[in-house]
Formats: sequence, structure tokens, C-alpha cells
Amino acid sequence: MSDERNETAPDPAPRGHGEVAADSVARKGSDSTSGPMARACGEPADQPDGGVPSPGFAIGGIRIEPNVMLAPMSGITDSAYRAFVKEGNPGAVGLVVTELISVEALARHDLKTHRMLSYLPHERPLAMQLFGAQPARMAEAAAIAQDLGADIIDVNCGCPAPKVTKRGGGAGLMREPEVLRDILRALRRTLTIPYTVKLRAGWDDASRNAVEVARMAEGEGAAMIAVHGRTRKELYSGDADWDLIAEVKSAVRVPVVGSGDIMTAAQGVHRLQDGGVDGVMIGRGTLGNPWIFREIAALRRGETPPVVSSRARFLAIDALIARLAAVLHPATAIGRARGLGCRMVKYVHGGAQIRALISRAPSVDAMRAILQEHAERAAKDDLAA
Ligand SMILES: Cc1cc2nc3c(=O)[nH]c(=O)nc-3n(C[C@H](O)[C@H](O)[C@H](O)COP(=O)(O)O)c2cc1C
Repeated sequence: MSDERNETAPDPAPRGHGEVAADSVARKGSDSTSGPMARACGEPADQPDGGVPSPGFAIGGIRIEPNVMLAPMSGITDSAYRAFVKEGNPGAVGLVVTELISVEALARHDLKTHRMLSYLPHERPLAMQLFGAQPARMAEAAAIAQDLGADIIDVNCGCPAPKVTKRGGGAGLMREPEVLRDILRALRRTLTIPYTVKLRAGWDDASRNAVEVARMAEGEGAAMIAVHGRTRKELYSGDADWDLIAEVKSAVRVPVVGSGDIMTAAQGVHRLQDGGVDGVMIGRGTLGNPWIFREIAALRRGETPPVVSSRARFLAIDALIARLAAVLHPATAIGRARGLGCRMVKYVHGGAQIRALISRAPSVDAMRAILQEHAERAAKDDLAA
């Protein structure tokens, strides 16, 4: 499906959805942290005396540690990207979330949609995010996702794309909280794993109702509430409203996670310390700096994170593209790799010129050759400097 990126992403977006090999779907192992004990009953977040959120919290019975998460991004956070981020930031990513998944497609057992829920064991804990507006369908699809091994089901209440909202899903649920309430009730009846919601600030300025919706969601068993501090109308303009996110935190007992505009590790630490939240989610900042999580961890330990060279940046993008090509159908891989490559190189020194080359590259191999060549050039520049 189309998604947030069409409307909202400030960059050219990757095209098409991933077709991850079905055999890479990891089945839920016996060491699962989910289960009846993990029923949707969010524990209040740990708060040490100083009021600064501790490095972790629980969603239902699932420990999220550290309290820094990879935000869901349609067209981006497929299994390859999530695993890439986890591996690049050992022990520094508390939770990863899938792209938003259509409950209609999942419930009718669409193969491509099932493949979008593929994951590798070391991605866990993993939240699978669903969008839809029919409580029965949502419950049906959530049960499928649970069977596929989700640790947590997240309900998308933020997607602004008209094709989603006009059917009442995504940010449309912010306009009709009673539909969200019925969805959460259906999930409560169906799931044994925790469920969470990801809200926007509201639909528009006249209805910044995240606080009310969060209270309702908590009452209906949501075990964590993530808030992107912008309204649907704002899309990605202006600044995310972290004051509103803090208001949501004050209004509920379940953990609240803030999302919006964390582009550097220092900004992440600032939000963790002063954002009044239990944790943060980082989306676009990971495209420019896939190592942002380990940098946050270093800063929290009082260390200075090492500078990542331009060469290493190009090679990391190359490695991610190779990974995509290994698991996706070639027709899908090229579009996805192009979109992702273009988004990521723009943050690397000299990236604008390479972006143009990548966008015209006829194949994944050609794209990789461009990246590798620039990695070597960057290495020489680094030596000469
Ligand atoms: C390209 C793109 C795709 C996104 N897709 C999703 C999505 O599938 N589900 C969702 O809840 N939010 C989605 N978002 C919103 C992000 O999760 C996040 O809340 C938002 O980008 C603000 O955080 P950031 O400034 O760290 O990116 C998307 C954002 C971008 C840029």
C-alpha cells in the first residue's frame, strides 16, 4: 500500500514494498517473552528518584531496554533495515517496529503482506504495526500477526495518507476515537500478547486530542502509547510538539514514548532527559545516522561517540543494499534500494552528487559499484586531509 511517505516524507521515497523471502519468517521460539503473562496490562514505567526515565521499561510483560526504539517507517523498516540497525547498534535498540501493515490484506492472507511480516530472531522484541478501521478485521489480522511471532501489536493511529484515512484508518482513528476504542476492545478479547497505539497529536489544530485518546486507550488496555507530536494536518511541517507528548505522559500510567525530530544522538539524550517521556522512537534520524542508537548509549555512559568516516557510511549503505537484494525480488529490490540509497547518501559528505547517480543506476549492482567507488574516494580524501 501507499503510506505515510507519499504525503509526508520530505524526501523522495522508496517505491514498492518489500518481498522478503517467506522462508526468512522466524517462528516464535520457546524463549518468547510474550504469553499470557504479557497480556495487555502496561506496567507503569520505572521512574528513579530524580524523575529521569530509567534506561528501560516494560510493555505488558516485555522488557524494553534501552528505552530507545526504531520508529516504524513505511517503505523503510522492513526486516533488512531493522536487522541492519540492530546489528549496527548492539544492545542499544530496545524495540523495532514493522512498517504499517494492512489488516485487510493480512486477513485475506495476501502473500506479499505476510512476507512483509518476515523477521530475523535477533530483531526481537518486535512490534508488528497494523492499520485498519474495522474492529473484527483488526482482531483477525492481529491474531495472525501474533501467530507469526509478534511480541507486541501496535495500532497505527497516525498515517496521514488519504487512502488510509478516508477509510477511517491511520490518523482517521484520531478523529473517531470510539472506533479506536472498539478496535482495542476487540484486541483485548483476542490477543495474549500486549498491544500498543501510536498516535499523532490530533487530526488538526482544532482537535489536538492526543491526551484524551491516550487516556481512552489506556483504559482499553493499551500497554504503551507512542506519540508523534504533530497533527495529521501538519504532516511533517513545523516542529514536533514535545510539550503535548509530556502532557500525554502526565495523563496516563502506562509508558509513553515520544517521536519527532530526533536527528542527532545529542537530541535523543536531551529528549530522554528532559522530554518527560519513558522512551523515544527515532525514524528519519536513523537514515542519516544508522549508528545513532549506539551514540546515544555512549553519551549516556558519559563517553564521546567515535566519528564515523564517510567511507564507513558509504560501505554501510552498500551493505544494506546488498542485503535488500539478497532477500527481495529483483523487481522490488531496485526500487527499494534506490529509494533507501537516495535517502541515506544525502546525509554523507558529497552525497548530493551521488544521489543523482544512484537515482539513475539501472541495477542494484550498478548502485553498489557507485557506492563502493565513492567509499574508496572518501578513504583517499580522509588520508589526504
Ligand atoms: C518515510 C516515513 C514512513 C513512515 N511510516 C510510518 C508507519 O508506517 N507507521 C507509523 O506509525 N509511523 C510512520 N512514520 C512516522 C514515524 O514513525 C515517526 O513518528 C515520524 O517520522 C517522526 O519521527 P522522526 O522525526 O524521528 O522521523 C513514517 C515516517 C516517515 C518519514
